[in-house]
Amino acid sequence: MELFLDTDDERALSTQLYDQIRAAIGDGRLPPGGRLQPSRVVAHELGIARSTVTDAYARLTAEGYVEGRRGGGSIVLDHAAPGPGPSEAPTALAPSATAAAVRRYGVALESHPRYDLTAGRVDTRLFPLADWRRCTNRALTRLARDFGYYGDPAGSIELRRALTHWVARSRGIAGTADQIVVTHGAGHAAHLLARVLLTPGDVAAVEEPGYPPITTMLRSLGAEVVGVPVDEHGLIVDALPDAARLVHVTPSHQYPLGAVLSRQRRLALLRWAGRRGAAVIEDDYDSEFRYLNRPLEPLHRLDRDGVVVYVGTFSKMLSPALRLGFAVVPPGLVPAITAMQQAVDFGVPAVTAQALRTFIEDGYLDRHLRRARKVYARRHRAVGAALAALPDSPLTPLPSQAGLHLTLLTPRTPDDQELGVRSTRHGLQLSSLRRTYQHSPPRAGVVLGFGAIPTADIPDAIGLLASLYP
Ligand SMILES: Cc1ncc(COP(=O)(O)O)c(C=O)c1O
Repeated sequence: MELFLDTDDERALSTQLYDQIRAAIGDGRLPPGGRLQPSRVVAHELGIARSTVTDAYARLTAEGYVEGRRGGGSIVLDHAAPGPGPSEAPTALAPSATAAAVRRYGVALESHPRYDLTAGRVDTRLFPLADWRRCTNRALTRLARDFGYYGDPAGSIELRRALTHWVARSRGIAGTADQIVVTHGAGHAAHLLARVLLTPGDVAAVEEPGYPPITTMLRSLGAEVVGVPVDEHGLIVDALPDAARLVHVTPSHQYPLGAVLSRQRRLALLRWAGRRGAAVIEDDYDSEFRYLNRPLEPLHRLDRDGVVVYVGTFSKMLSPALRLGFAVVPPGLVPAITAMQQAVDFGVPAVTAQALRTFIEDGYLDRHLRRARKVYARRHRAVGAALAALPDSPLTPLPSQAGLHLTLLTPRTPDDQELGVRSTRHGLQLSSLRRTYQHSPPRAGVVLGFGAIPTADIPDAIGLLASLYP
């Protein structure tokens, strides 16, 4: 622990030391069993007489905070009860009004219910740990001589090339490596774009219902966020507010309702945005997992005005813990985005980015996706079959042919708190549809995630879910 002395302080030097150590024991920075630095070392570091330090230690010993050990050294005693923790310590600091309005979203970070039907969860057992470890080891070896440098905030050119080839292959998206910006996921990509494109007070449009963190992020930047309704063909383009400077959409698999934005609406959205020079963020968060239809062309491929930014993420494909995603950005915006990324956080750590490069280039990603697709397709079928087998089901599934979730409408639903209590009692963890509405009266239902639950558990879990609705 670092100790400080202030020569302008009226307290004696030994009292200053005593006060600091006692405070550190009180707030847990020096835990029971922790060892005080030898008095000789402290005296040397602070340039004071050793007796000044031993005076302070003697007082701590006399008052029962520490105990001298035979052979030297002083140990903090068990009963030296901690005082208020750091979170309870007084502070003169407070978040701004905008930041104070920001709320966390989602259930407990780590929980292991009997049946996990939480929306958005992936199966951690599918994570290709050995392959990722191999790629990380290679990344460390390759990067060792560059450890003294910050990399390109947009990501290394090798990774951007690998991503360019991969999106061309998987989604038919044409672009050059210069247009790729590597990010900490889809949310981070949207954040960077919003920071570059919006001024406080600008109008931004999001889908309603939608993915709440996007609304929260846009509001935190001072945007006026308007929720635009969604139907079975996706975003209702005619309902977009005239003044919107930016629209965030999930055209491949609307979150959470599951619709695919129809071709007609895609073209209408592009016309709308092209006329106004408004940006369209195409958030393609989970469409690598598709179960039936051939995919529609991404907005990015249909865009003639350079208004679409395509955003991809590895949160569903691999793991949200990696914090990896990317954006395909119109060339004219790249310098501003890259500069913003440098100013904000300097982008993705080089080791992770380099590991991803090898993971893509050496075919590990393709192999993992082939395997994961089979597993998730089985779960998607099992959910459909379990729902179809329910007699007089209170659960109405909305069509959904991609991703790791589908939405069930539940007309006779209890409120969220009651639903939470009832489901926990049965060992079920669920995500409510209500909380995905941020701008209008919510519909009742469940956003049912089938990514994390073993296929064999699905019939029981769906049966239990149905039993929650009397
Ligand atoms: C619509 C949408 N976008 C993005 C994400 C993931 O974001 P990220 O890549 O930041 O983890 C999710 C996660 O569930 C989502 O539902």
